[in-house]
Amino acid sequence: MTTPDKNAIAAELTRSRARTALLTDAVGEDDLTRQHSPLMSPLVWDLAHVGNQEELWLVRDVGGREPVRQDIDHLYDAFKHARSDRPALPLLDPAEARRYLAQVRDKALDVLDRVRLDERPLLAGGFAFGMIVQHEQQHDETMLATHQLRAGGPVLSAPPPPPGNRRVRGEVLIPAGPFTMGTDTDPWALDNERPAHVVDVPAFLIDAAPVTNLDYLAFIDAEGYDDPRWWSPRGWAHRNEAGLTAPMHWFREGADWHYRRFGRVEPVRKDEPVVHVGYFEAEAYATWAGKRLPTEVEWEKAARWDPETGRSRRYPWGDDPPGPEHANLGQRHLAPAPVGAYPAGASPLGVHQLIGDVWEWTSSDWHGYPGFCVFPYAEYSEVFFGGDYKVLRGGSFGTDAAAVRGTFRNWDHPIRRQIFSGFRCARSLA
Ligand SMILES: [Fe+2]
Repeated sequence: MTTPDKNAIAAELTRSRARTALLTDAVGEDDLTRQHSPLMSPLVWDLAHVGNQEELWLVRDVGGREPVRQDIDHLYDAFKHARSDRPALPLLDPAEARRYLAQVRDKALDVLDRVRLDERPLLAGGFAFGMIVQHEQQHDETMLATHQLRAGGPVLSAPPPPPGNRRVRGEVLIPAGPFTMGTDTDPWALDNERPAHVVDVPAFLIDAAPVTNLDYLAFIDAEGYDDPRWWSPRGWAHRNEAGLTAPMHWFREGADWHYRRFGRVEPVRKDEPVVHVGYFEAEAYATWAGKRLPTEVEWEKAARWDPETGRSRRYPWGDDPPGPEHANLGQRHLAPAPVGAYPAGASPLGVHQLIGDVWEWTSSDWHGYPGFCVFPYAEYSEVFFGGDYKVLRGGSFGTDAAAVRGTFRNWDHPIRRQIFSGFRCARSLA
């Protein structure tokens, strides 16, 4: 990847802010301040939190400037208040939050103008700015998930994704051998993606495409949700406690399944990757199908390893940044695309839709790579290592291109399914 210059950095900051505005201008004051689910913050909290992180890092740390609103730091510290408690805090109202964001952005752009990008490690390749761009885009995806949980009519719209291709089916053999996982060189890669290290991986088979709704309906029809044989003991206990019977947002009318998507009710599309399933559901499906979930290592080798050169690519299709022909990213469409919709985005060995559409659950626990170093703060990822989290890879239709790549790692509790999460299966050869 070429190192972004100041113009490119400013353009990324502006692009993120346009998305934040789109997501928060789409609803009125009441929807901005209300909590749509105990799993989520009120949208107005995300809004001001985005500004507060930008103030902390770009204005105060990088710029060395006076605080804009030090008095509100504690309100927007994600570690001080659980999401469920945030509506009761004396938060900035929507108009105040918007003014605050604009004030901070003015100062951040001024800092960008004046700072030398080779001054200190935090600024190398524009990293501090890239971290803030990714942070805002990550909250935009969270806000999109809040939109999905909001009751009421549609307020967001987007064209449908491109059509699929039924021939993308079956499994792809990834031969045994070493590959380079993680990165030392990607300028905006986060600490948990580093360092690059070689991993020797036994041969395995991986699904050419994510598991579709048609595949998943077969599991439902086979009474997979009612058969403890397919579930891990923890998964089965959770299935019973939560009363799981289908992916989140699905409901049945007669024989037909529908889902509610951003305020619209639609019949379940059979050729689309299944979305809004938790880790335990993915694990149960895989067991029922005679397969398993891929490890994080396997997922990354399938996504990045080029058998011709032995090199690890930045994306499955190569090192070029994602274009609309490669992957369904950035809320360009408000749904995963049908399987086979992105032939130009496939890996050299023919694995499709690894980037975009749905986050893919892996069987790996969340931990740091060998030689991990905190950069620039432990609360980004290190404090979560070893917790009750599973790794997800690849980004979803709601993930921006700036916030995903072949090395990017996400993590969440195995019971979570308000995120745009799906999966694909793998198998060992032996
Ligand atoms: Fe945050």
